[in-house]
Amino acid sequence: MEKNYSDLAETAIQSIEKIAGTHPGYRRAHAKGSYYEAVFTPNGQAIPYTTAAHLQQEPVKAIVRFSDSSPSPKMMDGLSPVKGMSVQFQLPNGQVTYLVSVTVPVFLTKTPEAFVEIIRLTAQKPGPRDLVKMFMKYPESKAAFRIIKHMKPFLSYSTSCYYPIHAFYFVNEQGKRQAVKYKWVPDETFSLEAKKESAVHAMDYLEKELDEQLPIGFTLYVTLGEEGDLVDDSTASWPKERTTFAIGHLDINGKIEHPDDQIVFDPTVVPAGIECTDDPVLHARRDFYAASFKRRIKGL
Ligand code: HEM
Repeated sequence: MEKNYSDLAETAIQSIEKIAGTHPGYRRAHAKGSYYEAVFTPNGQAIPYTTAAHLQQEPVKAIVRFSDSSPSPKMMDGLSPVKGMSVQFQLPNGQVTYLVSVTVPVFLTKTPEAFVEIIRLTAQKPGPRDLVKMFMKYPESKAAFRIIKHMKPFLSYSTSCYYPIHAFYFVNEQGKRQAVKYKWVPDETFSLEAKKESAVHAMDYLEKELDEQLPIGFTLYVTLGEEGDLVDDSTASWPKERTTFAIGHLDINGKIEHPDDQIVFDPTVVPAGIECTDDPVLHARRDFYAASFKRRIKGL
């Protein structure tokens, strides 16, 4: 039976609100964002591994939301390098599925409980020594911190790579399971406009800069896990030499000016041909996002 994380979600959201304030009607994380129309065209390379409808031969419509990771909708764009790219794929049978990615390839903690403990303690405004003690309890957070420390200032949504972090299973026609991790790689890796905009409008430039770059594109890659690669631990990377190949391309064509902001980009909603791993952080996200949605949809 699926574990229920509703109580943990309440603690998480109350702690986030204590740290960042309450912003009625907004997501409790990734509050500032904008929506775009897109088409995903699979290239057929995933067919030996999965029967998922959007990864066969036919293009599918998609909706994309780019976001800053902060719970504050007024967050200054230039302050954090951690940004999000959420994709809703619209399958031919009317179902949807999501890939919800950030600019960092690993998460901070192995369990949702550890992550919520960190934000609960952070809400109590600990001193620097307490902070060090707290993170020493979770040595797995070192990998994410090391990556974040070396990230360059974020300049443009359209020139960054994005990682859904968790592993998933592809399941093929014969019922064979293959662990995979995804990665979005941008068509363009540099934007001069973004550099100029970020210097002049450090507070709020990313959305405008992105709108000026349209149309933009990303290639979706998968890496195949092998024996011994950790599939249930979102702080763990797989060895670099693992087989990686492109499975399709996302064309982001136009802005959605007045989006119906009722989408919950829930990474556990997967179609036939894809299964969730047992990664507890992945499963907890379903209840966390539902709790955030329940508040924001009521204008709370
Ligand atoms: C236990 C850990 C986590 C917590 C407590 C958490 C919390 C949240 C919450 C409350 C939201 C707002 C949901 C909504 O109102 O629809 C959100 C959105 C988001 N989260 Fe997480 N999250 C966690 C882990 C992750 C991980 C591992 C990723 C990495 C891919 C991630 C990426 C995102 C993104 C990209 C969004 C924005 C989705 C959108 O565009 O609507 N989160 N998160």
